[in-house]
Amino acid sequence: MKRDLISILDVKDEIDILLDRAMDLKAKQKAGQAERSLDKKVLGMIFEKPSLRTRVSFEIGMYHLGGTGLYLSPNEIQVGKRESVYDVAKVISRYVDGIMYRAFDYRIMKELAEHADVPVINGLDDLEHPCQILADLLTVKEQKGSLKGLKMVYLGDGNNVCNSLLLGCAAVGMHMVAACPEGYEPNAEILAKAKALGTERGCTIEHMTDPKAAVTNADVIYTDTWVSMGEEAEKEKRNQVFPPFQVNDELVALAKPDYVFLHCLPAHRNEEVTDSVIDSPNSRVFDEAENRMWAEMAVMDLFMK
Ligand code: CP
Ligand code: NVA
Repeated sequence: MKRDLISILDVKDEIDILLDRAMDLKAKQKAGQAERSLDKKVLGMIFEKPSLRTRVSFEIGMYHLGGTGLYLSPNEIQVGKRESVYDVAKVISRYVDGIMYRAFDYRIMKELAEHADVPVINGLDDLEHPCQILADLLTVKEQKGSLKGLKMVYLGDGNNVCNSLLLGCAAVGMHMVAACPEGYEPNAEILAKAKALGTERGCTIEHMTDPKAAVTNADVIYTDTWVSMGEEAEKEKRNQVFPPFQVNDELVALAKPDYVFLHCLPAHRNEEVTDSVIDSPNSRVFDEAENRMWAEMAVMDLFMK
């Protein structure tokens, strides 16, 4: 049976295994002992939105594993527009061994996965960004040694990254507080699922609207853009609402002194985060970006081998 990674919940019981595998692949590659576990395999990479990290990390990750990534730009397949989602899924499955898909609409993501005969990996949709969260957890594990019992605080828009982070933290037993303004809360169904999973795994998952209360004693502070791809028309309105959630020196002073700052990137410097924080010694944003590749290699190794 082929497996898909559409939600981080699809690997909720295997996150530790994936992170250990990612660390192993990273260490081996850096020691010049690369594993070629996906020799001659091909990943089709369908993009409906721009990308730096997702495109490059998947493509080079496939190369490191002995295979190839094929980039398909927003002008090419046009899933569900030029032809049906079903036909796209069936045809592309005849050429490639796995599909990475960056989509506008999670419903099309699910439909493609349902009909594809090869694994589908979510490279971001409007609801989740699971590979990002694997890289984030890998970065925290490298910095802190373990994840269970740490406090993750997310500030800003309750978006795709925030949704997956809630589920991912719950899965590994990390406490998480999402501080988001009214009207920009995380997805209600996902929040409820994360709370229930957190209860099962011994951690608390909460949403609040007060950034200062949220950040107190944080081990990790995370933020993302206030305006996600596809929401550009709301930029002005959002820029009025979000400034109290900016991650700046005053706010991070409330966290633990050895807190780690994360951002999925691209960052809008001096909007959601100040230069003083993103460039501080606590920031691990470039390790985090690098870790996209190792985490995705672990996923592809597990799903496509
Ligand atoms: N963090 C992330 O997914 O970056 P890209 O949009 O550049 O792929
Ligand atoms: N929330 C952002 C993440 C970008 C990697 C977006 O969807 O645009």
